[in-house]
Amino acid sequence: MSDSILELKNISKWYHSNPERKILEGLDLKVNTGDRFSIVGPSGCGKSTLLNILGTLDAPSQGEVVLNGKGTGGMDEKTLSAIRARTIGFIFQMHHLLPQCTALENVLVPTLALGKEANPVEASERGFELLKRVGLGDKCDSTPSQLSGGERQRVAVVRSLINRPKLLLADEPTGALDEDNAYRLVDLLVDLNETEGLSLIVVTHDMDVAGRVGKVRTLKNGKIASAS
Ligand SMILES: Nc1ncnc2c1ncn2[C@@H]1O[C@H](COP(=O)(O)OP(=O)(O)O)[C@@H](O)[C@H]1O
Ligand SMILES: [Mg+2]
Repeated sequence: MSDSILELKNISKWYHSNPERKILEGLDLKVNTGDRFSIVGPSGCGKSTLLNILGTLDAPSQGEVVLNGKGTGGMDEKTLSAIRARTIGFIFQMHHLLPQCTALENVLVPTLALGKEANPVEASERGFELLKRVGLGDKCDSTPSQLSGGERQRVAVVRSLINRPKLLLADEPTGALDEDNAYRLVDLLVDLNETEGLSLIVVTHDMDVAGRVGKVRTLKNGKIASAS
């Protein structure tokens, strides 16, 4: 399959606080259905900036972001967030789980963005099935403080999947985990890519994690420099 989900065309990005410094400059990147790769580069090179633009959480200073065949530049935030909620799942270094909510309740949070289209019963069943799949079937009612770091991050993975996205974007997803849990998490993401056809992009400064994801792309001088 080679349908394009997301395409960045000649993207440049600078922040208002320092317009002289181009974090991204003339960057092109295409993401097709089922793609899987990591993006590596040293701290501060612009990986999170790039991922936020890929995820339409931030807009480029110049260039075009095409999501599901439509340019996002002219879209109002409501339209864009509705498309984003159905298309892209996010995982961050910190899990950002709500401390007062159970694992299952946390997993259901993104369904709120679907508004009237959400089916709470179906979503709960799916949340439960996914928690079982990641080995947390008996932890649905646990709150984050009752879970280990690795378990919390697996809850965050399930939360990212609940709306059946086509693309998972992960920003340093293993940054807060020990090595065993880091590899376990990467293996879970790779398995989801292989079995569900979900596209996967993992941003990391950790070359071992990157290698385990598969194809490695390097962010250098504001551009994607190489593929291996
Ligand atoms: N909101 C912001 N305002 C101003 N500068 C920022 C902002 N976010 C990131 N930067 C700067 O942009 C550069 C790239 O940051 P970032 O994308 O977070 O890099 P990475 O994720 O590779 O560590 C850094 O120099 C950082 O300080
Ligand atoms: Mg970062």
